[in-house]
Amino acid sequence: GRLLIVHGPNLNLLGTREPEIYGAETLEDINELCRSTAAELGFSVDAVQSNHEGELVDAIQAARGAQEGIVINPAAYTHTSVAIADALKAVALPVVEVHLSNVHAREPFRQHSYVSPIAEAVFAGAGSTGYRFAIEYLAGLLKDS
Ligand code: DQA
Repeated sequence: GRLLIVHGPNLNLLGTREPEIYGAETLEDINELCRSTAAELGFSVDAVQSNHEGELVDAIQAARGAQEGIVINPAAYTHTSVAIADALKAVALPVVEVHLSNVHAREPFRQHSYVSPIAEAVFAGAGSTGYRFAIEYLAGLLKDS
């Protein structure tokens, strides 16, 4: 099986971007963690990052028929994007939402997510380990279904 990992805006800067909040690992480190975690469970991953909302919508739409599930950190679009939430609903694949930081312990505007109502699970505040948890959880769901 294949899983799509979707990274939203500014996550290309991981490693140098506010490391006290988002950690020292780069996006490539996180993608490697996703690849190795998925491989242990018999899955492969495709990873996409974009700073552009429409490109993220296109990537999510393209997952239909090509992927079995989606792990997404929509980054700032979490809190603003009806379009990304609608695309996730449209493809009707299981979705797990990840945030590196504990968004609930931060500014009020980070505490609402358009994606959470359609997510099977949400991991926030566990840093890059949240991606590992997300893949393990999604793989478990897909094996049971
Ligand atoms: C984030 C949290 C968002 O509020 C923020 O806009 C991000 C990253 C996280 O992983 O903690 O860019 O999704």
